[in-house]
Amino acid sequence: MRPGDVIQTKRDGGRLSPEQIDAFVGAAARLEGSGWEKYHLTALLMAIYLNDMAPDEAAHLTRAMADSGTRLDLFDIEGPKVDKHSTGGVGDKTSLILGPLAAACGVVVPMMSGRGLGHSGGTLDKLEAIPGFNVHLSEAEFRAALRNVGLGMIGQTADIAPADKTLYALRDVTATVESIPLITASILSKKLSEGISGLVMDVKSGRGAFMKTRDRSRALAQSIVKVGTANGLNVSAFITAMDAPLGRFVGNALEVVESIETLKGNGPKDLTELSVKLAARMVRIASGAPDDTKSEALIREALASGAGLEVFRKCIEQQGGDPRVIDDYSRLPTTRTTTRVNADRTGFVATIDAEKVGIAARVLGGGRSRAEDAIDPAVGVIVRAKSGERVTTGDAVFEVHYRDDAKLASALPILTGAFQVTDAPPAEAPLILEELA
Ligand code: URA
Repeated sequence: MRPGDVIQTKRDGGRLSPEQIDAFVGAAARLEGSGWEKYHLTALLMAIYLNDMAPDEAAHLTRAMADSGTRLDLFDIEGPKVDKHSTGGVGDKTSLILGPLAAACGVVVPMMSGRGLGHSGGTLDKLEAIPGFNVHLSEAEFRAALRNVGLGMIGQTADIAPADKTLYALRDVTATVESIPLITASILSKKLSEGISGLVMDVKSGRGAFMKTRDRSRALAQSIVKVGTANGLNVSAFITAMDAPLGRFVGNALEVVESIETLKGNGPKDLTELSVKLAARMVRIASGAPDDTKSEALIREALASGAGLEVFRKCIEQQGGDPRVIDDYSRLPTTRTTTRVNADRTGFVATIDAEKVGIAARVLGGGRSRAEDAIDPAVGVIVRAKSGERVTTGDAVFEVHYRDDAKLASALPILTGAFQVTDAPPAEAPLILEELA
């Protein structure tokens, strides 16, 4: 099969056959000897970007990408295996909360996560803020974590969906990231490789999200549900607001603190409610219950009793981290130097711009512009006044944790432009915008 013919099929708006998709994915996983060159792969990516894929084409692409590497078989670990995936947001630390809560309710959670890039954070970076926490477990260690704790939180290994690694790197530099079938296949190929039977998807929508509009978020959520279902997954998807940061703390170690506080029952309302809803859906998928009533009650009980907190403590210990951070936050990295960005008038905070807060946290050193950048786990921003809260002139809107004066000087103007104060309180905006399946 000639690569040019495959490209021509999609260029002219046709459907790719399973054999054509297999040839493309095979070449992405192993270019050498495939008869394909990188320019063939990128031309086909652009043709897919422009002419889309039918759900069954995207489903085959997803399966082929998952099959390009190792797919974990967790048959020897008892219990239903369900994960959650978020398309990424600012202050989104729900994985650290719902993983332990769902595990406390009997779900096995084999969570493979990514690092932060751009303005949104990554679960691995947050976990690595905990001294000693090892996200690079061997398969045997990962299985031991799932067996002993019910929860393992690791990075993707080199043999998980290798075709996605090649294709994502090419998409990143050829303006072809924002394609619904390509995003769907990229996300789901990695999730299928975890050996799960159920997935709760949190598609973020708004200023601070990858998908800025509701229509695009819905299209992605629908695609993920269809393609996931076609690949044997029980998938639920939520579309949730990402206009403002989730919770109050943004920055890796700061987000660990807020996650632990939430597991102790002291979390902010938005973060607590979203974590409970997503965790409850994981439990419902695992149990096959017809609605969320029972699973939500179980999750609230795991939160109130501290059972979720105890699972997080065990998870930290199991993965080599210092569990004393649960009771002593001074064991986490800290900058010791902080400053404030204050309200310059009295009124109500009308908006907090998630994207700007995320960019400021990155500029302070807490995030990456390029995948190879090093990060500082201690820096970040605490939102002292959230949308709808009353401030008087001079009250702190942001508390900035910084280490480097030059970086602070770049971050401050971004933060100064990241909020608005108005005379009247804003209308309360819902956090969960839509539910699919
Ligand atoms: N996240 C992924 O893993 N892949 C994409 O294509 C986009 C977001």
